[in-house]
Amino acid sequence: MWLKDAPLIREDERADVNQESLDRIFTIPESNGATLARIEKAISSNLDGFLREHIVAEEKPMPEIEEEFSSVEITEKPFYVSAYTDFILKHLVAQSVHTSSPGFIGHMSSALPYFMLPMSKIITALNQNMVKVETSKAFTPMERQVLGMLHNLVYQRDDTFYKKWLHSPDHALGAFCSGGTIANITALWVARNNILGERAISRKGLHGAIQEAGIKGLVVLVSQRGHYSLLKAVDLLGLGRDNLITIPTDKHHKVDVSVMHDRAMELQDQGYKVLSVVGIAGATETGSVDPLKEIASLGKQLGCHFHVDAAWGGPTLFSEKYKGLLEGIDHADSVTIDAHKQFYVPMGAGMVLFKDPNAMRSVELHAEYIIRRGSRDLGQQSLEGSRPGMALLVHAGLNIIGQKGYEMLIDQGIEKAKYFAQIIEEHDDFELLVRPELNILGYRFAPKWVRECLQSTDNETANWINEKLDFINKNIQKAQRAEGKTFVSRTRIGFEKYNGSQLVYFRVILANPLTKQADLHRVLRHQLKFAGHEIARQILSEIKNRCG
Ligand SMILES: Cc1ncc(COP(=O)(O)O)c(C=O)c1O
Repeated sequence: MWLKDAPLIREDERADVNQESLDRIFTIPESNGATLARIEKAISSNLDGFLREHIVAEEKPMPEIEEEFSSVEITEKPFYVSAYTDFILKHLVAQSVHTSSPGFIGHMSSALPYFMLPMSKIITALNQNMVKVETSKAFTPMERQVLGMLHNLVYQRDDTFYKKWLHSPDHALGAFCSGGTIANITALWVARNNILGERAISRKGLHGAIQEAGIKGLVVLVSQRGHYSLLKAVDLLGLGRDNLITIPTDKHHKVDVSVMHDRAMELQDQGYKVLSVVGIAGATETGSVDPLKEIASLGKQLGCHFHVDAAWGGPTLFSEKYKGLLEGIDHADSVTIDAHKQFYVPMGAGMVLFKDPNAMRSVELHAEYIIRRGSRDLGQQSLEGSRPGMALLVHAGLNIIGQKGYEMLIDQGIEKAKYFAQIIEEHDDFELLVRPELNILGYRFAPKWVRECLQSTDNETANWINEKLDFINKNIQKAQRAEGKTFVSRTRIGFEKYNGSQLVYFRVILANPLTKQADLHRVLRHQLKFAGHEIARQILSEIKNRCG
């Protein structure tokens, strides 16, 4: 059986497969009263209402959901669109996550501007393929313009520069892709081929090129807060995961550049070449921004590539008030920015920008039937092949929200994070662990008397208490997620304040413009409710006994 509800669907809800029915699904939209048409109308007229109505709050166990999607048979007698849509509403939409809810402040997904929906439909309707001009035409210069706008946001070159390079067929100011992971991989791919020489690497492969360069291997240096996509990058590029060298951070979760420097020197002495130093502008777990200017100087001293992963924090550049936090980003050879994060574009849109319009020539590839030499085909440089025209959504955002609109969104997010940090600090039951630099912060449930005990007790007891608190916080987060009314995520990193001990904490991301101060108070209220449960109370009394 294909769908779990299939036995419940009447025979007359099954379609005959014939030429006429095939023609219909490729041409004739359903009548206005049909389920799919009603959904489209509801989504267009009141998206929030649609999501509230159809996403149910209670958590259904994953194995039950898996059961509903467990058959691998492909149906011979397919369903009518309406019958299928009913199934989807009941089993898929209902069990999705309400990522745009104002109380959903745990991940990097937010509410989207309403115009993204019809714009996405235009992309699907046109079904352009960005790999080559023959299937994208005007979408190609539009995507290049988007890359140029972002390049301008980061590097601020003059008009002559953009006139010369923006649409130059043999050059690229960057590459559009499906997200930050591909952007980071592309940045290091370009860096690798430029450092080893495109000819050497394409002729002899990595091993041969490394031998020819007379080095032991290539290494990439990044803070311990670097995103795991960098591990994927060094793995794919043949460098090996051990050769992503992670550098400790200071108490503000920023990379310690003097340690990065010393480690680079050590590695060079051992015969390694530093391929790239990487700075983070908005670390995934802490929102911290590395000292980009200092990393740029180190990169220059080492003669290596300098990449900035600004997947999250890049749009901070829109803010007059906060762009200074990213000082030095314009020295980067490449910069990753995700559009499906703080550009408020749906999932599947990322970008990597290159300071030098020639940089991507080292990864250029041609084929006879498409991406021909001298053509304007974007597929010549991009890692991905066929790609949708997602750049339209960034183009729409840049034109409809604009610099001022994005500035407001960024400022509001950072100010909301500061407000939340303040109420946490004033609260007797919570401890602020990651002070927000951008709009990401971290805290945990830790009553004041426990914190006082932690300050005055010996190391062994402190570790024991922290383990108990980890357990309580993990359970609060799980219970809150299961209840489905509000949501924060959780992670675990080391904190200098507790001698580097790894602590579980709530991770909050405040980018959703629908989130108001009252929602933040609501999140804390829910957490306190779960902290009052029997098991948590028992653990707290154990801690009290030990603290004396
Ligand atoms: C700093 C950073 N870099 C890269 C990525 C990867 O982006 P994506 O999930 O779009 O591939 C993320 C995702 O959260 C991120 O926070």
